[in-house]
Amino acid sequence: MAEEAALHITAPAKVNLFLHVTGRRADGYHALESLFVFTRKGDELVLTPADDLGFSLAGPFAPRLRALGGDGEGNLVVRAARALADAAGRAPSVHIELIKTLPVEAGIGGGSADAAAVLLGLNDLWGLGWSKDKLAEIALTLGADVPACLYQEPLYVTGIGETVRRVTLPWTGALLLVNPGSGSATPAVFKAYKAAGTAFDAPLGLPEDAWQSPDSLKADSHNSLEAAALSLNPAIAEVLAVLCEEKAARLVRMSGSGATCFALFDSLKDAEAAADRLKAAHPAWWVMADEIAL
Ligand code: C5P
Repeated sequence: MAEEAALHITAPAKVNLFLHVTGRRADGYHALESLFVFTRKGDELVLTPADDLGFSLAGPFAPRLRALGGDGEGNLVVRAARALADAAGRAPSVHIELIKTLPVEAGIGGGSADAAAVLLGLNDLWGLGWSKDKLAEIALTLGADVPACLYQEPLYVTGIGETVRRVTLPWTGALLLVNPGSGSATPAVFKAYKAAGTAFDAPLGLPEDAWQSPDSLKADSHNSLEAAALSLNPAIAEVLAVLCEEKAARLVRMSGSGATCFALFDSLKDAEAAADRLKAAHPAWWVMADEIAL
């Protein structure tokens, strides 16, 4: 029965521990150098075998996603299911329920993570047995960040986001993610970055040196989109300032094109204690503490 066969999957948040912009391609896309990590918690998806392709939206951020046109055919998860079905030469016979618990336009993967999770889930549900590298080819047709979101482990990412290499972090840590409740549209942030005429970052010669410790991340890397995102959304500055007050935070930075910022802690206990303080002081902010998936 369809109910019994439903598959429940999680689409974890993606966090850029650093994000350098190293150039601009002829097609306008920016060349990046970045360290991606993933949390364990994230959006939830329920894939249920059905006669036709169907989609429904639930969860605390469903209204915001609907307002941005993310309901129905326009949602990246629907496009992901269609693209995989086409590539596999079969019907896209599945109902996808997306329970949106991560904020949208937030710099933490969002739609890309959801689309990647659907590719992984349908690969199982339809018994395709494709490798992640094969799924990555389809993922790239859906967005620059989607291939990386298939791996859900620390990644060194270059190109426009499509060239990924698994890395081992020689330390463990936990993240506190904070979003001020206002979005940050990626195209607008890149446009503001370009308009500011910021010099491109030189590629890191030995990138692994940058992630030897949280201290080396702090000293040797940054997020080059932070100034542009801040110019469009001043609430990001307030989030960063509040996170910087956390004494146990090893690194405080914005993720992706914002508006979500993170603080890196040595332990989940420290991150959760900070989360409790922030929730009490800023009830309108979205706050999540979680481990880094290794
Ligand atoms: O790939 P995604 O749809 O998230 O990108 C949204 C927009 O962000 C692109 O249309 C482009 O303007 C900008 N972008 C960029 N360089 C990247 C990724 C995105 O300029 N590497």
